[in-house]
Amino acid sequence: MGSVLEEMFLGDLVEVDRKPMLVTYKLLLDTISRRLSIREVKAKNGSIEIMAGVFWDYDKMPNMLISGGIGGGKTYFIYMLIKVFMEVGTVKIADPKKSDLGVLADLPAFKGHVVMEKEEIFRLLEDSFEMMIKRYKYMREHENYTMGKNYAFYEMPPYVVIVDEWAAFFSTLDYKETERVLKVLMPLILQGRQSGVYMIIALQRPDAQSLPNGIRDNLLAKVSLGRLSELGYKMTYGDDNKNKSFVNKSGVGRGYLDIGKGIPQELYSPFVPEDFDFLEEFSKFDQMIELDFESIRITGRDREMMDDMHSAEDEMKIRKMVSEEYQRKRQEKLDKASDIKIE
Ligand SMILES: Nc1ncnc2c1ncn2[C@@H]1O[C@H](COP(=O)(O)OP(=O)(O)OP(=O)(O)O)[C@@H](O)[C@H]1O
Ligand SMILES: [Mg+2]
Repeated sequence: MGSVLEEMFLGDLVEVDRKPMLVTYKLLLDTISRRLSIREVKAKNGSIEIMAGVFWDYDKMPNMLISGGIGGGKTYFIYMLIKVFMEVGTVKIADPKKSDLGVLADLPAFKGHVVMEKEEIFRLLEDSFEMMIKRYKYMREHENYTMGKNYAFYEMPPYVVIVDEWAAFFSTLDYKETERVLKVLMPLILQGRQSGVYMIIALQRPDAQSLPNGIRDNLLAKVSLGRLSELGYKMTYGDDNKNKSFVNKSGVGRGYLDIGKGIPQELYSPFVPEDFDFLEEFSKFDQMIELDFESIRITGRDREMMDDMHSAEDEMKIRKMVSEEYQRKRQEKLDKASDIKIE
């Protein structure tokens, strides 16, 4: 039914609400008129309005996967996220291809925040993991410690790790190196949320070799830009969206977006006008917003306490629920799905 309505009204199904005797389908129409300009996009209260009326609540639906063909607009989308997150927190960047994001390394605010070499990327992920533990420790020992509150309650800025061209890093790793990465990446994406640590991973095609399914599924928000193959859509959004009519239209920065609810909708990424110069914008920041946790030391007890704290606050349960709910929906849709259509 959803895809019939989508085709009838040329809109995107964004929500299905089932009550006894009443099913409500919510369609988003006229997407292009909802496109925002890069200057309008801001992070506010743990949320970013990516298109008018379309919010990514990164505090609730943490981590993002960005996929898309060559020239689809991934890097521009990332520039937008860097700008938005820099205004409120710390941004760490890895560019294993040493291309577009690498140039930021020389700007004052990005000193020590941009890495390109393999070993440096390992260390960035490991340092971010340690940072997460330190942030939990800080929260736990805070005089106003309140169970269940997140980092924002303690006035901590978010800490965002962005890796462009992820496949150029991950697909070159041997078994040992893969383990080294997953050992810190899994906890980062599963437990980062409450402490405000987020991962954003971009790559052309999220096949299992470049990004294990367990990681992909827990990058709750998903964005695809430009033209993808049928398989590319399947890999990005999962098999569950087989009944979705993905259309490869032209236009820069156009694609699809799943804000974490498991339903992709059409996206026009925030428009970057000709006169907007990212380097100039980024040069305006003379410093990155950062917490100084140098003095905090992590003990074995901290790691244990972190595990305890999680179970106490049901963090893992919530995470599991999110993904179980997500998996259940995926399976449900998969069961009644026909094939993905690309026009
Ligand atoms: N939101 C946007 N607003 C205006 N122009 C855009 C936007 N997104 C992309 N473009 C244009 O498209 C070009 C390609 O975008 P971008 O470099 O982000 O693609 P990409 O997906 O990172 O490509 P690659 O796979 O080659 O790295 C940009 O140089 C820019 O001219
Ligand atoms: Mg790029």
